[in-house]
Amino acid sequence: MDQNSKTAKESVVTMTELVLPNDTNMFGNLMGGRLMYWMDIAAALSAMKHCGTPVVTASVDNISFENPIKLGNAVHIQARVSRAFNTSMEIFMSVWGEDALHQYKYKSNEAYFTFVALDPNGKPRKVPNLIPETEDEVKLFEGALRRRQVRLILGGKMQPNDATELKALFTK
Ligand SMILES: CC(C)(COP(=O)(O)OP(=O)(O)OC[C@H]1O[C@@H](n2cnc3c(N)ncnc32)[C@H](O)[C@@H]1OP(=O)(O)O)[C@@H](O)C(=O)NCCC(=O)NCCS
Repeated sequence: MDQNSKTAKESVVTMTELVLPNDTNMFGNLMGGRLMYWMDIAAALSAMKHCGTPVVTASVDNISFENPIKLGNAVHIQARVSRAFNTSMEIFMSVWGEDALHQYKYKSNEAYFTFVALDPNGKPRKVPNLIPETEDEVKLFEGALRRRQVRLILGGKMQPNDATELKALFTK
């Protein structure tokens, strides 16, 4: 591993919050917007751990909320860099709730956010490479190229014809 590389596990951030009345909707469940706010912070901290400079959120992929998180439960967000590109980083997050009284945990959702590292003039700057180590990290790393192509096409920054890895999914 060279000096410009870091492992995925070095970027891991785990954040825990307690769901209080002001965080909930009228059904007593955590509001999606509040959860996304916490996810944005956890992901930014993970990105900063990887690149060691300030970062901004460039994009947020679609999020599906599988299970509501109830008032009084804890919410855990684990964020890690899944792949670093030139100036941007994809962050993978896994979110679960925990009922401490009845001693069980349940999955809430998974999501990908993209952050860009900035220099002191607010311009994008190069980030270290990411080295995946475990089987799961390698899987996330490999899929990141295709997810990036989807984002850039939707953001009007890439022509579909240039998305080689994405096209390869549909053609032989
Ligand atoms: C994100 C931002 C820094 C990109 O700047 P830019 O001038 O468009 O720069 P570039 O086109 O050179 O892109 C820089 C990087 O961002 C990535 N990027 C740009 N738009 C993207 C998008 N929609 N999704 C994912 N990545 C994106 C590029 O792929 C590039 O990454 P790379 O260097 O690893 O290839 C700029 O658009 C910005 O500051 N946006 C506002 C960020 C912000 O305020 N976020 C908080 C929410 S209000």
